[in-house]
Amino acid sequence: MDHSERRLIELTVNGVIHQVEADVRLTLADLLRHHLHLTGTHIGCEHGVCGACTVLVDGRSARSCLMLAVQANTRAIVTIEGLSVEGEPLRPLQQAFKDHHGLQCGFCTPGILTTLHELLGDNENPSEDEIRVALSGNICRCTGYQGIVAAVRSAVDAIRRGA
Ligand code: FES
Ligand code: FES
Repeated sequence: MDHSERRLIELTVNGVIHQVEADVRLTLADLLRHHLHLTGTHIGCEHGVCGACTVLVDGRSARSCLMLAVQANTRAIVTIEGLSVEGEPLRPLQQAFKDHHGLQCGFCTPGILTTLHELLGDNENPSEDEIRVALSGNICRCTGYQGIVAAVRSAVDAIRRGA
């Protein structure tokens, strides 16, 4: 017997409106990756611990592995793909990650950048402690976080200089 149940939802992802008939059990992470082909959102633990799947939902960070696609109905989602424009220079935070070795394998990076996007929206000059607290839900197994924190501080300086 087929127990699947579907709902028509409409959501905005990176400024584009999508209508999707989604299985009620489909996660937002799987909707983004498998239906909309936005594979920059990574899936690690699938139970809310690693932060790799973090996206912005109406401007606030959220674990897309813990959110159902149907819960995103009428919401505005921003993924890592929405934080820069292809063909244009990198934004200060992304450029700083490159300059300060804020990533190695890059698996955690989309979730870290979306989390930091929220942080810098709330606090334009976070201290090192505030940066580390904001990132406490994002696990990086490569960098030791030093380069990430240095990148954020550098990006803050660049933004304040008007970069
Ligand atoms: S995959 Fe969602 S928090 Fe780890
Ligand atoms: S850069 Fe590899 S997990 Fe963070």
